[in-house]
Amino acid sequence: MSTKPRLFSGMQPSADSLQIGNYIGALLQWKEMQSTNDAIFCVVDLHALTVPQDPALLREQTRRTVAQYIAAGIDPERSILFIQSHVPAHPELAWILNTLTGFGEASRMTQFKDKAAKQGTDAASVGLFAYPTLMAADILLYDTNVVPVGDDQKQHIELTRDLANRFNSRFGTTFVVPEPVILKATARIYDLQNPEAKMSKSAASDSGVVWMLDEPSKTAKKIKAAVTDDDRVVRFDRAAKPGVSNLLTILSAFTSTPVADLEASFEGRGYGDLKSTVADAVVATFEPIRSRALELLADPAELDRILATNADRAEAIAQPKLDEVYDRIGLLPRR
Ligand code: TYM
Repeated sequence: MSTKPRLFSGMQPSADSLQIGNYIGALLQWKEMQSTNDAIFCVVDLHALTVPQDPALLREQTRRTVAQYIAAGIDPERSILFIQSHVPAHPELAWILNTLTGFGEASRMTQFKDKAAKQGTDAASVGLFAYPTLMAADILLYDTNVVPVGDDQKQHIELTRDLANRFNSRFGTTFVVPEPVILKATARIYDLQNPEAKMSKSAASDSGVVWMLDEPSKTAKKIKAAVTDDDRVVRFDRAAKPGVSNLLTILSAFTSTPVADLEASFEGRGYGDLKSTVADAVVATFEPIRSRALELLADPAELDRILATNADRAEAIAQPKLDEVYDRIGLLPRR
């Protein structure tokens, strides 16, 4: 048994490529935390179904997400890297948690409210409403201690903690109550064209989204076209200078340099310089990740082999936990 803290996190395979916010807000931390934690990373395909998906595309995007995890430095031998739908304990525990979640409590989830408003409440599915309880199941099945995410996931982790405490006090201690790990400085990366809005895989326009698998020249062009302001000073000020602040956050993450040092180094230099520096830093990191991901995708059989082994490793942890839950709540075991 490992004595390291258990880490669990995941992403939806909801686009052909991950975007720079997924990389900075999640992947970069995941990679670094692998050595100090007993880490489990999931591609949450069942979550992706909460909005309409094309079947062939979903399969393709799922493999592409796996390839990007590995290319960005997730090691599927040291860590566990698996697909959510390969381990049926996830939706099974989610059902149990649904029965413990208040309708009002689920209705207060801001991500549900935002997504439902976007689609129109009538078009929003029950699955979308139950998204957070499936996420709670993901986390609680593995006795997770830490969950590294971007700040848009904070409320879901609070719900997960509430559900763990509720279950434990009603049925006896069963679940570990997890802690979110949200790095303040990089918790939210904004759209390059609309720096008031979070960058998202599902943004209406592609022009402000930096994709990990885009061609380097395209990435550089997008960054050079980022919206800034009429002022000329390279200074971090989220309220007054959202575009410049976002570029500084990105550069800071890609160069491991504090924002204050970057501000000092850009004194007397203009936005053109800043944008070129950011573009170079992002391309230098993403180019090898892109090549490696494309290489991995050229051999889908090998990827599927890795996923099969990893699903077994995940299931060996999740199934006994689900069995314990079924027993605690009084379901008659099948003999
Ligand atoms: P997803 O796929 O929407 O996002 C994956 C991760 O990327 C982070 N992120 C961002 N961080 C900073 N700036 C951004 N613009 C940005 N956009 C996305 C998200 O915070 C997230 O960490 N519900 C989860 C998936 C999930 C999960 C889980 C996570 C399902 N089960 C269990 C942790 C534990 C999600 O939003 O994925």
